[in-house]
Formats: sequence, structure tokens, C-alpha cells
Amino acid sequence: MVATTSTGRDGWSSRSAFILAAIGSAVGLGNLVRFPAEAGANGGGAFVLFYILCIVLIGLPVLLSETLIGRHGQAAAPESYRKVAEESGASKSWELVATLGVLSAFLVLSFYCVLGGWVLYYMYLFVADLIATGVSGPAFDGMSFEAVDALFPAMIANGPVTVVLNLIFLAITLFFVARGVSGGIEKVAVYLMPLFFVLLVGITIYSLIGGASQETFDYLFTFEPEKLTGEVMLAAVGQAFFSLSLGVAGMVTYGAYVSREVNLAGTSAIIGAADTSVALVAGLCIFPIVIAAGLTPNGGLGLMFQTLPHAFQEIPFGSLIGLAFFIMVGFAALTSSVALMEVPSAWVIDQFRLPRPAAVLLVTALAAVFGTLSALSTGMLSGFHPLGFLPMFEGLGFLDTLDTLTSKLTMPIGALFTAVFIGWIADKRLVDSENGLSGGLHYLWRFLVRWFCPLALLLILLGGIFPDRAAQLFAALGGGEVQSAEVVE
Ligand code: PHE
Repeated sequence: MVATTSTGRDGWSSRSAFILAAIGSAVGLGNLVRFPAEAGANGGGAFVLFYILCIVLIGLPVLLSETLIGRHGQAAAPESYRKVAEESGASKSWELVATLGVLSAFLVLSFYCVLGGWVLYYMYLFVADLIATGVSGPAFDGMSFEAVDALFPAMIANGPVTVVLNLIFLAITLFFVARGVSGGIEKVAVYLMPLFFVLLVGITIYSLIGGASQETFDYLFTFEPEKLTGEVMLAAVGQAFFSLSLGVAGMVTYGAYVSREVNLAGTSAIIGAADTSVALVAGLCIFPIVIAAGLTPNGGLGLMFQTLPHAFQEIPFGSLIGLAFFIMVGFAALTSSVALMEVPSAWVIDQFRLPRPAAVLLVTALAAVFGTLSALSTGMLSGFHPLGFLPMFEGLGFLDTLDTLTSKLTMPIGALFTAVFIGWIADKRLVDSENGLSGGLHYLWRFLVRWFCPLALLLILLGGIFPDRAAQLFAALGGGEVQSAEVVE
């Protein structure tokens, strides 16, 4: 059955389908790989507390703004912005905010699927290990610490493997997006998200019972004010945005398939709460086994792809838990890559009047080209620094360049202009009729979108572009020692 929205387009078949799909979009590698790594690199509790504040004060107001624009426009993101602008008597150029979002979503898609490919490789490693060593034993039995450590660098340096796995991950994503909103995108969320939650809760219980749970709680939830430096704050706010899928017109696109009856404020709160809970639980899932194995919870991709496999080496049922873990990560990544692919696809469908399968194929083909460059950037093309002439991108390979470009520039810019658009430009009656808020919350939201979000986003943006200046400023304000505002991938 193809569900339709009030305009007769394909859309979510129910409110819960929308909620699951939006949670599927939000919950992804950002929650499972990036959040624990950022918390690890940025001193635990201070980062976690500030992250939650960013979600509530900046993330949720922008999330509601994005879904509101989409639901009102009932079209691909740029057209939705244009409709809201026209009905508010504002310039049509506001649609450029969404066009930038479409471009960002495409760029994120192109490297996100490379990381998805790495996850596929680890699934394969643990399946092979399970077959070789049996169900009950620890993972990688008989392999030395160094040999397990070397698995990750060996994989990312192997061009053919990373390129092919990227193409496979893209093809799986294409398979669902090409089938449409209610027939494909929704299905993947409705089936995979519940399975994801079961796996997450199961592995976390195992980890908390058998691992260093007390140390983990102390680490993640002890607030030490001196650790809250400018660097930590910037990392937290960037992470909050990436995790809620904001600034790439993703929630605008998903919002366009929501029917008129749905209360957007309530659903946005559910989506935000679910995303934040998953990030926190991911910390409670990963750190107890890492700490119990005597390893340091470090930052970066190494936490998931190197440290964690060592931890699985130390525990009973290590291969099985390792496999379950990477299947869970794969599910989360897929429901996010589906959202990332839908954003440019919906735009191509609307813009060029192409049938959905053709539009999705076109987007996939282009993403495959960019993805191949990203996949090779950790090996053969590691010396290629496409924007290396700009200080912000110095020394960065293709994948890291796209990551920095989107997370530090285009995503905060998209979110900043969205907040300004809804707070200052869009017709107040139009906004009020869509947002589902009343009373004090309504005033609070309006204040946040008009004043707090734009200012905070401007600071984030400047902090990302001029890390050294930001560091000096923080130091001058007594905000602790800051060397740079580098955000770990
Ligand atoms: N929020 C996703 C994650 O945490 C990533 C994403 C960004 C998905 C933007 C869609 C749009 O992994």
C-alpha cells in the first residue's frame, strides 16, 4: 500500500512510521562511533553535560523548525523553503538554504557509505572469527594484540576492499530508497530500528554486568567544570547537530511526508530524546568492556575499530558479541544513509521531474564517484589534499575534507539560516499553525529560535573557521586552556 499525504504524494503510513524513520535518520554512526569517541577525547562528563544542553537549547528548536518547513511545504526541501518564503512575503532566495542542505546531504552520503563499508568489513571479520573459533570463546583467539591492532590500518589502506564495500553499502541504500517512502524508506526503519534497540539493550546489559560499570558511570557522568574548555564545547555542539541530522535539509525532507494531524513539537521531542538516549546508552555499552579490558577510552575512529575489538578479545562470547555489535552499527548506519540519499533524490525528482528509480540511480552514481575518492583517501590517495591550500583543510585527505566541510561549515550555516528564517522571516501565523506548541513552551521556543540559536550557531561557525582566535577568546574569558577547536572524527 502506498500511503499518501494530504497533497496526494507518497508519504508515511502513520505517525509512528514517521517517528521511527526520523529516529532512524538521527541514530547512526554519529551516536555509536562519534559520540563515545568525542566523550572519550573530551574528558567525559563535562562533554556529556554540555552535549545534552546543546540538544535541548539548540538542537530541538532547529529540529522543530526543519520539520515545520517540510510539513508546510509538502515538497522537496528547496521548494518547501520557497513556499514558506512566498507565503510570508519574503524573497524566494531563501530556498538556497535548502539547496545548500541538499548538497551537504549528498556530500555526507558519499563518505558515510564509505564508513558503512568499513562496518560491513568488521561484520565479515567477526563472522569469519565465529566460524573459526566457535561461539563461546573470546574474539580473535590466538591473535596477538598487535595483530588485532593492525586489522584496521590494513583495511583502510586496502583500496579495492574499501571501494567495493562502499559500493555494496550504497547499493543496499539505493535498494530501499528506490522503493519510495512508504514502500522502502519506512520499511527499513520499521523493521530495523526495533531490532537495533533490542541489540543495543542486550549488549549494554551484558557489558554493564560483566564490565567496569561503576568506572563508566563515574567517567561519563562526573561533571568536572575545569574540563569544560572551548574545544570541548565546540565538539559537543557540532556533535549534537550531526547526531540530530540537522542542517542538511534531512528533517525538512522527512517532514514533507508527514500528514497535517501530527503534532510536530511532540514528535520532535520524542526524536530528540531517543537520539540522545541512544548516544548515552552507546557510551554505557562501549566503555565498560573497554575499561574492564584495561584499555584507555581514546578518541577517534580507533575507539570502535581498534580498541573495541581488543575488548572483545578479553570477554567470553567475544566473537558473538562483536558480530552482534557490528550488525547493530550497520543497521543504524543504513537507516541514516537512507535518509541522506532521500534528500538529494527528492530534489532530483522534483527538479527534473524524473521517476524515482532514475533519480535515485543518478544520485547513487554520483555518490559512488565521490565515495571512491573518499574510500581511496585512507590509502592510495592519502597524499591528495583537495582543499589543503586553506588553513582549515590543511593536510586533510578527501574523506576528512568532506567531513570538515560539512560538519564545520555547511551544516552550521544551514542550521543558522533556518533558525533566522523561522525566527525572523517566516510569517508568524503560518509558523504558529504548524508548530503544535502552546503557552510558555511556545514563547521559549520562539526566543530560542530568534535569539539563542542564531547567536550560538554563529559562534560555532566562527569557532570552527578560526580555531586559534576562538581559543584566544576562550582563554581571555577564563575558559581554560585551548589549543585548537579540532573536532575528532
Ligand atoms: N544523524 C546521523 C548520525 O548520527 C547522520 C546524519 C546526518 C543522517 C545528516 C542524516 C542526515 O549518524
